[in-house]
Amino acid sequence: MLEKFSKWKQVFTTTEGKTLELNLDPTNIPKHVAIIMDGNGRWAAERGLPRIAGHREGVKNVNKIVRASNALNVEVLTLYAFSTENWKRPKAEVDFLLKLPERYLKTELPTLIKENVQVRLMGTKDQLPSYTLGAFEEAIEKTKNNTGLILNFAMNYGSRFEMSQAMQAIAEKVKAGELQPDEINEDLIGAHLMSGQLRDPDLLIRTSGEIRLSNFMLWQLAYSEFWFTDVLWPNFSEAHFHEAIATYQNRGRRYGGL
Ligand code: IPE
Ligand code: IPE
Ligand code: MG
Repeated sequence: MLEKFSKWKQVFTTTEGKTLELNLDPTNIPKHVAIIMDGNGRWAAERGLPRIAGHREGVKNVNKIVRASNALNVEVLTLYAFSTENWKRPKAEVDFLLKLPERYLKTELPTLIKENVQVRLMGTKDQLPSYTLGAFEEAIEKTKNNTGLILNFAMNYGSRFEMSQAMQAIAEKVKAGELQPDEINEDLIGAHLMSGQLRDPDLLIRTSGEIRLSNFMLWQLAYSEFWFTDVLWPNFSEAHFHEAIATYQNRGRRYGGL
């Protein structure tokens, strides 16, 4: 249970009645946090509700984590909202998931604008229905001059597709004589990915107990710190977010060095 939430310090009472205090170091906040928001379906199943009830609940949670990220001066928050593999789900669920951005942004865009958040979209746009893409485009346009948190939604995103698109684009440039094969390096490849100019995630969080990447940012996560929790996404709180960051702050990032 969360007793107190301040910018850098949280005090919780655990279910066993123990008091846990987390003090975050303001000088070591991960600049880019990426989250695989998983477990909505299981949250609903636990309550005997249809899966979409879990997605509805999960969306409510986005605000909490956006606010917490902004408060801690996280620069980029990438949220995996719909994967290229999620099209395999029943049509009714896919339709519901694709309607969620419109629904979320309709109510939340004014707040995002006010809180200086800049919305971005990472994923293949041409397969998205116009109401999904339109909602994002409006949000991107209206927040493009904001200078606070970058809220990057991964929607119809798949890392292997992203990489094959990048390779095609690079190959086209070589074919056109604009680029020499020996000019292909890590920076050039990175710049051709959908994450474009965004820095690589420092911290990856996945909820719901699954320990896998599910085709998420395979290139960009090469040296990120991973934090997995059994907590289902609709139950993921500011306290859990702080716990993830506190764990991150205790890791030694060596990048192969000493
Ligand atoms: C995450 O929750 C949301 C999306 C993948 C879109 P799930 O819908 O995957 O929930 P579980 O994993 O079935 O519990
Ligand atoms: C990953 O979750 C995709 C999103 C959270 C959007 P999934 O629930 O789709 O992943 P798998 O199927 O368990 O790997
Ligand atoms: Mg899942």
